[in-house]
Amino acid sequence: MLLLAFPDYLEQAQRLATQLNVPISQTFLHRFPDGESLVRLPPALPRHIVIFRSLDHPNDKLIELLLCAKTARKLGVHRITLVAPYLCYMRQDIANNPGEAVSQRIIGQLLADLFDDVITVDPHLHRISRLDQAIPLQNAISLSASGVIGSYLQSQLNHAVLLGPDSESEQWVAGIASEIGFEYGIAKKIRRSDHDVKITLPNRNFSGHPVVVIDDMASTGRTLTQTIHLLHKAGATEIYAAITHPLFCDDAETAIRSAGVNGIWSTDSIRHSTSCIRLDELLAAAVRSIL
Ligand code: R5P
Repeated sequence: MLLLAFPDYLEQAQRLATQLNVPISQTFLHRFPDGESLVRLPPALPRHIVIFRSLDHPNDKLIELLLCAKTARKLGVHRITLVAPYLCYMRQDIANNPGEAVSQRIIGQLLADLFDDVITVDPHLHRISRLDQAIPLQNAISLSASGVIGSYLQSQLNHAVLLGPDSESEQWVAGIASEIGFEYGIAKKIRRSDHDVKITLPNRNFSGHPVVVIDDMASTGRTLTQTIHLLHKAGATEIYAAITHPLFCDDAETAIRSAGVNGIWSTDSIRHSTSCIRLDELLAAAVRSIL
């Protein structure tokens, strides 16, 4: 087996290869002035390769994965496992307006056509409960970062109230809270547009307590920003954010920091300055489980 890495995700790939004790090779990528991609794989490949790439900013990356997978097959590879700690296009699971593409299904089918196995972490599944409903593969594996996030929180804080900013976050927040014995609450969220969310805190006392807001992703950062503002008003002593996928688009991080956060802790599903929680052991265990 060989782990195929990409220049934008090399450090994490090296850590995963070390965990798996497998060789690593880099994919050569060149972006032409017109935006097209040139992809070059090592010409001698084993029967099984693991392609490791997180799919934030996905449009170019998806084309490059298509080129990689098709080329690998031509070079005689029999099994291709995609490990994508962040999985793109999972949020649009219905057509909200006539004529709208249901990207979760379309991209899911594309990945199922290209790969034999897909492993990811906390994909944003809303109306479906299993990843194989989006990516029709026997090995469509969805891991949870709750365990590593919980351990990290325990190493940083003796006690805190964990807060999920919306009903969807309860699955992660409740799991982490029961694992590490912290209390938790769940806020209500109405999203009016990409940058406009209204949060209502749960009816509990935050005054005098440290609070950790836990979410699967921070994109525009408005969910966190609003929640942090409200927690300050409610008298929380310290406020932290623990995020699985630190997308942090445009001014997201600035907005969150300006709201007054004491620390942002993210997993390394996406390379970011806040990525202090490592996923390599979790991912390696999942790869080993399918061999
Ligand atoms: C939504 O359901 C997700 O769990 C996140 O709360 C959301 O994607 C965060 O988005 P933003 O950072 O743009 O508010």
